Amino acid sequence: MGFFSKDIKTLDDLFVHTLRDIYYAEKQIEKALPKMIDKATNAQLKAGFEKHLEQTKGHIERVEEVFELHGVKAKAVDCPAIDGILEEADEVSGDIADKEVLDAALIASAQAVEHYEMTRYGTLIAWAKQLGRSDCANVLAKNLKEEQATDRKLTELAESKINLQAAE
Ligand SMILES: [Fe+2]
Ligand SMILES: [Fe+2]
Repeated sequence: MGFFSKDIKTLDDLFVHTLRDIYYAEKQIEKALPKMIDKATNAQLKAGFEKHLEQTKGHIERVEEVFELHGVKAKAVDCPAIDGILEEADEVSGDIADKEVLDAALIASAQAVEHYEMTRYGTLIAWAKQLGRSDCANVLAKNLKEEQATDRKLTELAESKINLQAAE
């Protein structure tokens, strides 16, 4: 994100810019998840990605709701960070022939994505509160909660099953 952009002068500007960053990220994730669903071989993992794709569509809508609450245009700005995470996910998974190892790699990539989202939403919630926009903070908190729950489920699936199978 363009931290050094001359357009950003106030915390409010920074909030809006970061909202546009996560808006872009969520849209890229929405595009990437179907590929991850296709690649996943474990049924639980596939189902988990499918569920998160539906949730991601909801995240996009909630971010749009926050733009509206805050009275600014819903617009995306390029986020090279998420592009990099998704590119790497695609590259690594493309190289793996062993199914279980591939699933382990997909989980690792998905968790990198979730953590990116969590850091963005955490920051946005703190700034929204500071700006007196608890209405925006409450909507963003719903997205954060779902990212955290997804991250926990991925950890559980990896540690209870997929990592063991990948090591065999
Ligand atoms: Fe999301
Ligand atoms: Fe997510």
